[in-house]
Amino acid sequence: MQSRYRHQSDRRPAGDALGTHDARAGQRPRLARPVSVPPDRHTARWKSYLRDCDSLLDFVEPMQVSGRVTRVAGLVMECVGLRLAVGSACTIPMANGIRVEAEVVGFDGDRLFLMPQSDVEGIVPGSRVFPIEASVPKPGSVAHPRRRPSDRARHLPVGDALLGRVVDGAGRPLDGLGPLGAQHMAPISARPVNPLDRAPITETLDVGVRAINSMLTVGRGQRLGLFAGTGVGKSVLLGMIARYTTADVIVVGLIGERGREVKEFIEQILGPVGRARSAVVAAPADSPPLMRLQGAAYATAIAEHFRDEGKSVLLIMDSLTRYAMAQREIALAIGEPPATKGYPPSVFAKLPVLVERAGNGLEGGGSITAFYTVLSEGDDQQDPIADAARGILDGHIVLDRHLAEAGHYPAIDIEQSISRAMHGITSTPHQHAARRLKQLYSRYQRSRDLISVGAYAPGSDPVLDQAIALHDRIEAFLCQEIPDKVDMQESLTQLTALFE
Ligand SMILES: Nc1ncnc2c1ncn2[C@@H]1O[C@H](COP(=O)(O)OP(=O)(O)OP(=O)(O)O)[C@@H](O)[C@H]1O
Ligand SMILES: [Mg+2]
Repeated sequence: MQSRYRHQSDRRPAGDALGTHDARAGQRPRLARPVSVPPDRHTARWKSYLRDCDSLLDFVEPMQVSGRVTRVAGLVMECVGLRLAVGSACTIPMANGIRVEAEVVGFDGDRLFLMPQSDVEGIVPGSRVFPIEASVPKPGSVAHPRRRPSDRARHLPVGDALLGRVVDGAGRPLDGLGPLGAQHMAPISARPVNPLDRAPITETLDVGVRAINSMLTVGRGQRLGLFAGTGVGKSVLLGMIARYTTADVIVVGLIGERGREVKEFIEQILGPVGRARSAVVAAPADSPPLMRLQGAAYATAIAEHFRDEGKSVLLIMDSLTRYAMAQREIALAIGEPPATKGYPPSVFAKLPVLVERAGNGLEGGGSITAFYTVLSEGDDQQDPIADAARGILDGHIVLDRHLAEAGHYPAIDIEQSISRAMHGITSTPHQHAARRLKQLYSRYQRSRDLISVGAYAPGSDPVLDQAIALHDRIEAFLCQEIPDKVDMQESLTQLTALFE
């Protein structure tokens, strides 16, 4: 009988032995009919068999790999039973229906270390962990979906839909203006541009702040640090730069700041004009460290997308120190030994990776000019993050507490600040005038005590005489009210007018 079946089925298309592939109008397929069995009985037997198969299908679950949570200690979770690459995303469904998303941040033998993106309350021992597959790219968008680590990284919305919007580190809107409706998704960790392919910094960028335009001229594609202690006016200065800079798009990353400050920055400092052309990513201090790290990477990914469209992008990150602190929290939680001032070595490896993603794109393409704030108290040169940042950025603007206390805003200490790109992008008369102003300002500061007690006799030092004569005008030149914009041309005219 079996041979008869085989003989019959040989003439059918492959896989059709049970008639499972008969597509004709959803009818039950005609089955091979052995000669000796009455046709009705045979059909009935097969129908019943197929009915059983059908009902079994209700209980079948598509196969999905999963692991189990074995430990939750502080910030970090441990999971066994999965083989995932570092940087992969996974999800842990809880009994209440909520899912906790997490990222693989390390492993030890068979144990994976997971860092959650939200609160871990509700996870029980043995909770199942499912890997999240990166979304499959649209045809034609990526040549080899899994070729690079960045393709496995989390993809988040980017593009014009984010302008005027405020999102969190996972791309969820925080502003209550409804879904983003973004057309494009991009991986949050991208490779930096090959340094040899990068366009050099050749153009100046007008930031609308007189002291910076004239004394610390910023180049398009430059990466600067804003070094200051707390409450010295970093956010206000960044807000002025955001509103007045001649850039196509502004991307703001508010990382690890106080929640109250996020609202203040968006509503008061950025204002409606600045906000309309800005995309804001906010990961405040109370969000988990992974979200703070991801927020910074996401803001950079948004900027990269606009740069790749050929736009001139201004990226503002407040603050780089809090980003480093988030990485410190994660690294210490998974057992990395602390090195300098409690910062594990991975922190110092992560900083340049983030910063190097900003800058100019390919020749003739767009650019990302970036400002990163760095917390540094007074003249504490020992702070390892400030030290590391100074080395990887193309310039630093130092804000001084004494100036702020004296009501000198923006409290830029022009003696300590430097723009490394300025020399290559400004004219010689501009450089001479800036150097002259710096000399006079410096000379006055050094003799300040003598002058104030009347111990200096005018006429004994011609340079100091000029410094004293011009001091009030120099101070006024370096100060600027928040609502005033001073463009590049005006800044240079006023600078040269000081010495006429
Ligand atoms: N250009 C300015 N003109 C007038 N006042 C200013 C100016 N810049 C800053 N201030 C004053 O300094 C205060 C602190 O500024 P800001 O919030 O920018 O400091 P911060 O360095 O960002 O502080 P934090 O470290 O707490 O984030 C402001 O509330 C404001 O009163
Ligand atoms: Mg601030």
